[in-house]
Amino acid sequence: MSVSDESMARQSWALVTGGARRVGEAIVRTLHARGENVMIHCLGSVEAAGELARELDARRPGSTVVLQADLGQPGGPESLAEQARTVSPRLALLVNNASRFYPTPVGEVDGEAWKDLMGSNVRGAFFLCQALAPALAGGAIVNIVDIHARRPMPRFPVYSMAKAALEMMTRSLALELAPEVRVNGVSPGAVMWPEGEQSEQEREALLAKVALGRLGTPEDVATAVAWLGLDAPYVTGQVVAVDGGRSLNM
Ligand SMILES: NC(=O)c1ccc[n+]([C@@H]2O[C@H](COP(=O)([O-])OP(=O)(O)OC[C@H]3O[C@@H](n4cnc5c(N)ncnc54)[C@H](OP(=O)(O)O)[C@@H]3O)[C@@H](O)[C@H]2O)c1
Repeated sequence: MSVSDESMARQSWALVTGGARRVGEAIVRTLHARGENVMIHCLGSVEAAGELARELDARRPGSTVVLQADLGQPGGPESLAEQARTVSPRLALLVNNASRFYPTPVGEVDGEAWKDLMGSNVRGAFFLCQALAPALAGGAIVNIVDIHARRPMPRFPVYSMAKAALEMMTRSLALELAPEVRVNGVSPGAVMWPEGEQSEQEREALLAKVALGRLGTPEDVATAVAWLGLDAPYVTGQVVAVDGGRSLNM
């Protein structure tokens, strides 16, 4: 290990899955601004991840790395854990943010969609937690859940089930990994419109059910992640809704 490799390994590192874009990018930026070094995991968004890393590294040289793995494939989480441990044997924080999201009307669900949605939203997160638990001792895990883990999203049964499993995983691992690792979750409501088609009418109908009357921001989610991950040493097994009051009105 060179001198600069050694100094990288001594820093406090956070790993954010799906960290190149959208909500994941906001989490990466917030943690980096809090002084964490950040491993930016991506799958297809290699270019966006690289640009983000270059921008943040320009502020603090050596403070980011880009890691790539398909968390939906067998061996993907273990490969990511190995890459992360090569950067630093210890991690302060793991944020399980990566996710696939699309409708799966009953009658049309096939094994591929099941594997893809379960794999990206919960299987990958579980095996990553398992593989990194020893490296996370003294640190924390924050899972990005969804308010639809508790109330099903119409036409999205498999996604809703996967997020429900992720929410139970949060409580279960909080018990299993205590006292070494704290495990919490953040459940966003609507913070960014999904990519793809959605009519203005559908958007307005949804916003009418949000008590605070507006779409959330990725930064709203990132602030909660930073609090649970870095500032809440006596909190474990909790899932905080960041939804502008949407879950009061479902
Ligand atoms: N957006 C919202 O309003 C909202 C609402 C409720 C909950 N959430 C939750 O908040 C989190 C972030 O939301 P988002 O809308 O920003 O997510 P997103 O854009 O749908 O996905 C985040 C990232 O997940 C990565 N990913 C997907 N499948 C993967 C796989 N098999 N292996 C590795 N990485 C994979 C992708 O990385 P690449 O781009 O590199 O391929 C993608 O950029 C998600 O967990 C989502 O379920 C979001």
